[in-house]
Amino acid sequence: MARILITSALPYINGIKHLGNLVGSQLPADLYARYMRARGHEVMFICATDEHGTPAELAAAKAGQDVADYCAEMHEVQAAIAAGFRLSFDHFGRSSSPQNHRLTQHLAGKLADAGLIEEVSEKQVYSVADGRFLPDRYIEGTCPNCGYERARGDQCEECTKQLDPTDLINPRSAISGSTDLEVRETKHLFLRQSLMRDKLNAWIESKKDWPVLTTSIAKKWLNDGEGLRDRGITRDLDWGIPVKRGDEDWPGMEGKVFYVWFDAPIEYISATAEWAEATGGGDSAWERWWRTDKGANDVRYVQFMGKDNVPFHTLSFPATLMGSGEPWKLVDYIKSFNYLNYDGGQFSTSQGRGVFMDQALSILPADYWRWWLLSHAPENADSEFTWENFQASVNKDLADVLGNFVSRVTKFCRSKFGEEVPAGGENGPVETALIADLSRRIAEYARLMDAMEVRKSATELRAIWAVGNEYLQGAAPWSVYKEDPERAAAIIRLMLNLIRVYAVLSAPFIPDAAATTLAALRTENADWPDDLAAALAALEPGHGFEVPEVLFAKIIDDDREAWHDRFSGQRS
Ligand code: MF3
Ligand code: ZN
Repeated sequence: MARILITSALPYINGIKHLGNLVGSQLPADLYARYMRARGHEVMFICATDEHGTPAELAAAKAGQDVADYCAEMHEVQAAIAAGFRLSFDHFGRSSSPQNHRLTQHLAGKLADAGLIEEVSEKQVYSVADGRFLPDRYIEGTCPNCGYERARGDQCEECTKQLDPTDLINPRSAISGSTDLEVRETKHLFLRQSLMRDKLNAWIESKKDWPVLTTSIAKKWLNDGEGLRDRGITRDLDWGIPVKRGDEDWPGMEGKVFYVWFDAPIEYISATAEWAEATGGGDSAWERWWRTDKGANDVRYVQFMGKDNVPFHTLSFPATLMGSGEPWKLVDYIKSFNYLNYDGGQFSTSQGRGVFMDQALSILPADYWRWWLLSHAPENADSEFTWENFQASVNKDLADVLGNFVSRVTKFCRSKFGEEVPAGGENGPVETALIADLSRRIAEYARLMDAMEVRKSATELRAIWAVGNEYLQGAAPWSVYKEDPERAAAIIRLMLNLIRVYAVLSAPFIPDAAATTLAALRTENADWPDDLAAALAALEPGHGFEVPEVLFAKIIDDDREAWHDRFSGQRS
């Protein structure tokens, strides 16, 4: 049994996320967490809301709310929706927590002690029309690297390059659109990441097993000399973590806060401390996950995120942790994702284009979405959501293959043998071959899940479902029954057990359907089928069950068309 620490990139607080955000981090992280728990490992699965920065301030202003109140409310909203999607966080924290204030200030102090912080008098963009300094991401312009015209001052979303606002060609305020921008003087702290190039380089080079998407982005920014430019880690904003050097005030930095990208990843650790406090575990309970001097050496730490987050997790955050000189646990594996597009374009939060998490759950239960999103995860390339594809996947995979199998087997048994596992007959050579085939496939499924090959895992799982269907079709207990009821009983007994195994294997993808199935089979605490032959005999003759409710309803064309129209434009 291993100990697995899993973090998902933290969703911004400024509104409900769309399905593209969900499939890029939280959902695959949940798949992995559920799978690892099912395999008997000790899992700590952490997520939180990312609450600082201008996006939060602006969203609160738009909602006419105090920013702290806005964040508190929106955190509850996001937590409820995450629960609706069955995201099984051990803790869903807040980057504005007292724990994160303390740890962020502590780490800044350690970095300063190590000579890695420089105080710089900086010229910063001031918008005369808006009457404020403009944070990086509220300056828009043309990317000097790729020419994208709506690049933000912190990063170009198109080519992932990290930027400074002064790099932008034709800059303008993203708040008002004004080009009346002035450069004014203000003092800020810079993290001297450039001093850590060799250390970071060696660390990234040592990660031979990382996905290409992750290492290619990391190496690109490491090697072109730009990604490791010293970066400002403070901002002139009201809302955020006040700049302090540990517990001490930082002369000259009064009224400033840390940059949101400095404190957000630190919240992975702080959220675990929040969890420890909430569960009464004390400091040692979270330190054993995060301090290599307190037991975290045995931990395997896996991060999930979209590709735009990779530079911050491969360069900036490791620089913070390494630079502190303290024995913090560094990430062992970064699983990153491309983008999910929506029906011929991009999901867009600002334009309300695409399906948002709350809307999705108002249409269909979580399992439908989980299955489609995970089986189409944008792993090796961007992928696209279309309603036709969603309808086809749900109807075929979930309703026809899995749902129909469960329903046929349980209903046939009820009509011929009653609602209990029938006695009589035994497995023959066909069943032996089936079990051997399934064993091989389940081993392959486990290998793919271990490797976080999300789409391939879904494909293998679907194949495992299909094998049962094909066997049932061939064995045809409904025709065998008249001549040889004992033989039909043996087939059905095996198939009822196979349903149980399917529920266990499928639970990481479709937890609700799995739970419904196991409850109907009165076998809630089913283990992973390490020994398949034994698992397929676990429900013994006489074991009672109920025919479960319909697991998956088909999506009809009228609904598909109505949804297509409803989500094509402005969010209502
Ligand atoms: N909120 C960021 C985003 O949505 C992700 C932050 S991940 C963290 O892109 F590590 F910084 F927390
Ligand atoms: Zn660009």
